Amino acid sequence: MRAIVVTDRAAGTAGMTLTERPEPDAAMLASLEGANYGDVVVEVHASGFTGNELDWPSTWIDRLGRDRTPSIPGHEVAGVVTALSYGTAGLSVGQRVFGLTDWTRDGTLAEYVVVEARNLAPLPGDVDFTVSASVAMPGLTASQGLFEHGHLSAGQSVLVHGAAGAVGSMATQLAREVGAYVLGTGRAVHRQAALDFGAQEFVDLENDALEDVGGVDLVFDVFGGDFGKRSAGLVRAGGMLVTVAGPPGARPADGLAVDFVVVSDRAQLSEIVRRVRDRRLRTNIGNVATLEDAVAAFNPTERINGKTIIRIRQ
Ligand SMILES: NC(=O)c1ccc[n+]([C@@H]2O[C@H](COP(=O)([O-])OP(=O)(O)OC[C@H]3O[C@@H](n4cnc5c(N)ncnc54)[C@H](OP(=O)(O)O)[C@@H]3O)[C@@H](O)[C@H]2O)c1
Repeated sequence: MRAIVVTDRAAGTAGMTLTERPEPDAAMLASLEGANYGDVVVEVHASGFTGNELDWPSTWIDRLGRDRTPSIPGHEVAGVVTALSYGTAGLSVGQRVFGLTDWTRDGTLAEYVVVEARNLAPLPGDVDFTVSASVAMPGLTASQGLFEHGHLSAGQSVLVHGAAGAVGSMATQLAREVGAYVLGTGRAVHRQAALDFGAQEFVDLENDALEDVGGVDLVFDVFGGDFGKRSAGLVRAGGMLVTVAGPPGARPADGLAVDFVVVSDRAQLSEIVRRVRDRRLRTNIGNVATLEDAVAAFNPTERINGKTIIRIRQ
């Protein structure tokens, strides 16, 4: 099968190449070294890649710390199940699915991928593969950050960093829907996009002082670093800083700081796709490219806001 692979950590996205890799199939699922109990093969129709995936250790090593190059990046998927391993529950061959794949195994920038069935949800026939691949990771991340970790509820205020980006735009919409007051941040050029996704105020991080924001109940941080640290000071007593950017550099004086890594969840994926169908959740796609054009798409000459989705099959 055709797949994008990476072999050189230092090369970043410039080191991505389109090549041939062995195609996973039912026989591979049946072999012990091929896959685990509960795995399925998915014929990939649309694949998503997170911008800094090539910095994640899991792109380069497996769970036992062994080199796993050449590795196939991309962990967001929408496609069709073509084979099931023994013990797979809840999915069948020919079923449309979407979800997240394991970080430490080959990913979805390929014609086929092996995925644990529990990491996939059924995809209704009227929801496009491209759309569903684009909401899996950002939708789950935003939902888990706001509600599972941040315990956000109606009437509370939340500062969403990067509110025009993939994760931030989902967090902005979900927080508004629950009745929270949303302050979005980003670059000056992101103002209108953040407001369009539902932010009631926008903090231009290039020109405004973050410290002027005042107290909020929750900060949803996608940046870490200096912005993450300074954001801890904005959290009201009893509030939280929730970050997806690694261990927080500072903790709110009278509140909690939590960092987490998104996990796939069938029920949450189904809820996300329900919102998409009801037009309560708008996807944030910046670019759609083919597998042949994927390497160029991940090495753009100009900034693209929103997710880049690779359409593997038309
Ligand atoms: N822990 C987890 O489970 C998890 C899950 C998903 C994502 N993440 C992480 O979350 C981060 C965001 O992911 P994403 O997919 O939402 O990325 P994204 O689509 O690029 O969104 C980030 C947004 O923030 C903006 N931004 C970046 N640096 C900025 C700065 N210095 N000042 C103002 N605005 C800035 C970006 O604008 P520009 O494009 O103009 O820079 C973009 O609009 C990534 O680091 C990703 O790895 C973590």
